[in-house]
Amino acid sequence: MRFASPSKVLVASLCAAGVQAAPAIDQLVYNSPAPSGLEALTFGLSSKLSSAFNNVLSHVSRPAAATYEDEGKTIWEVINADEEFKQLAHVLNYSSDATKDILKKKQNLTFFAPLNWHHHRDGGDDDKDAFSDLSFGPASMQEWGRIQKQIADYERDYSAESSDHDDDDDDKEKKRRRELIRHLIDAAALYHLVRSDTVLDAKAIADNSSVATLLNTGKSHANNDGTDWRVRTGKSLLPLPAVYLNFYSRIVKPDIRTSNGIIHAIKYPLMLPPDVLQALFFGQTTFSTSTSGLQKVHAAKYLTYRPWHSHHGHRQHHGHEHDGKHAISAWHHETNGTFNGVPAETVFVPSNLAWSRLPFVFRAYLFSPWGYHLLQKVFMLHSLPSDIVYADFVHHVKHSGKAAPEAVHTTVEGGRANKTSYTFDTVLPAIHGKKGEFETLDVDVYRYYLLPGGKGPLQTRMVVQNVSIILQDIPASNGVFHTIDRILKPKGHPEKGIWAEVAAAAEEAGFGTVDLHAEAQADLW
Ligand SMILES: *[C@@H]1O[C@H](CO)[C@@H](O)[C@H](O)[C@H]1NC(C)=O
Ligand SMILES: *[C@@H]1O[C@H](CO)[C@@H](O)[C@H](O)[C@H]1NC(C)=O
Ligand SMILES: *[C@@H]1O[C@H](CO)[C@@H](O)[C@H](O)[C@H]1NC(C)=O
Ligand SMILES: *[C@@H]1O[C@H](CO)[C@@H](O)[C@H](O)[C@H]1NC(C)=O
Ligand SMILES: *[C@@H]1O[C@H](CO)[C@@H](O)[C@H](O)[C@H]1NC(C)=O
Ligand SMILES: *[C@@H]1O[C@H](CO)[C@@H](O)[C@H](O)[C@H]1NC(C)=O
Repeated sequence: MRFASPSKVLVASLCAAGVQAAPAIDQLVYNSPAPSGLEALTFGLSSKLSSAFNNVLSHVSRPAAATYEDEGKTIWEVINADEEFKQLAHVLNYSSDATKDILKKKQNLTFFAPLNWHHHRDGGDDDKDAFSDLSFGPASMQEWGRIQKQIADYERDYSAESSDHDDDDDDKEKKRRRELIRHLIDAAALYHLVRSDTVLDAKAIADNSSVATLLNTGKSHANNDGTDWRVRTGKSLLPLPAVYLNFYSRIVKPDIRTSNGIIHAIKYPLMLPPDVLQALFFGQTTFSTSTSGLQKVHAAKYLTYRPWHSHHGHRQHHGHEHDGKHAISAWHHETNGTFNGVPAETVFVPSNLAWSRLPFVFRAYLFSPWGYHLLQKVFMLHSLPSDIVYADFVHHVKHSGKAAPEAVHTTVEGGRANKTSYTFDTVLPAIHGKKGEFETLDVDVYRYYLLPGGKGPLQTRMVVQNVSIILQDIPASNGVFHTIDRILKPKGHPEKGIWAEVAAAAEEAGFGTVDLHAEAQADLW
């Protein structure tokens, strides 16, 4: 279903959702078992790791003892009867009838239901989740905390006793507040419901690397170009072996079966993801070089998708005239003036490690005042302006005027892994290409079972331009981004393309000389 009549207020508040800096992505990155390089990437995971995953999955898919299914209880009834979901039930009570009807009547639902979230800090064995406590968890609790506060204020202001004033204005204000709360809760609730015709148990969830939700802001506020907002679903050994949603919310009690679907109880409510730029600040220490570079080249408007704030006046031009102006306007899907930025895109974000691997001369030059244009071009090579590319979902923006990329399916490793390959246009004009031609990036998605014979958990891994993605599928309100530990290079000869330009410019500006042939041979970056 479509999220009915998304109000401007709703979208504004989604986009303005406060974001706390969080170290979690960092640690996930550096604990990631997959170093760069295809071999290591695909089959290098140790058997120890794989058996740990197996344990998790067999634990996870154990059927719950008491089945509400037998008792004919719906998801709505279970949420309202079970003390563990008390906070959720109270919030959902303020959702629209349409949302309630989904939980009461729709069949084959898969619902990520947050357990009571407010007492997590009071101890108990769950506190082994130190990781989550440091990161998005509290941010998502804050978001839901704000919803709860609005409900509490509303209940206080309009409780039976205090409703002695009953003039029209007050009635209007009451309705308005109720409506706002309802919008917020509807969006949040729909983001916890998976779009699927069949019930998905935790094993099925774990087999995918992301799932579509029922939250769809539609064409009028075209976040994600009107496609469903997605939740990342990842298997992780840390801090506890389990399935994690959007990195921070662990599936604590999987597979609670009811008469109209399945509930996976999760530790923290899911926060609606912010846009790419804001999300980058979650992984602040991992991405600090990229974020400062992006700020330097004023790329914010290409990574955000936000309501137009009139106090910003007209779109800011920062006094920099760039040669790539036309390319840049291609990067920028104009909206009506109500929204600003890019509604649907994919960005491959270099980690600090990736930047540190660059020859020193390049780094010094790019981040110097002289490096502005070329640093901008480096980022442009890392951005797909017309495609949302998750490992298991690709959406091409139709009105981009470009042909949809073709998916080429092959098998590799003697049939053990399926490979799907795509080629996407970036924002960077091809340097020796014809007018209107852009540098392209090859993306390969590998799917394979960790153990031979189709055993073990299903893995999905992505490679972009021969660089393994170390952290894939980080959802955003305007697309998705992925982390890489190596900077991307255009296809082809080392003496052509952006890095040759950087080498020439750095030398001319007196920063030093880099021998691109030797660098290509050494293959250090
Ligand atoms: C839901 O709201 C109704 C009245 O609108 C109230 O009677 C009921 O107690 C509420 N339930 C929860 C769980 O808050
Ligand atoms: C629910 O899923 C089952 C298979 O698991 C399918 O047979 C049935 O048609 C589905 N029902 C609906 C309403 O989609
Ligand atoms: C899981 O991934 C497969 C393969 O990409 C896809 O066909 C399926 O629809 C996905 N399931 C969900 C629930 O997204
Ligand atoms: C553009 O404005 C029109 C009329 O105000 C509105 O109906 C439409 O939804 C807007 N589109 C976008 C993308 O904001
Ligand atoms: C690979 O593709 C084949 C044919 O589409 C399919 O039967 C098989 O399940 C796939 N294997 C994996 C690991 O996704
Ligand atoms: C990726 O590596 C293969 C084999 O080493 C090579 O043939 C291909 O050109 C490389 N692709 C890119 C985009 O660098």
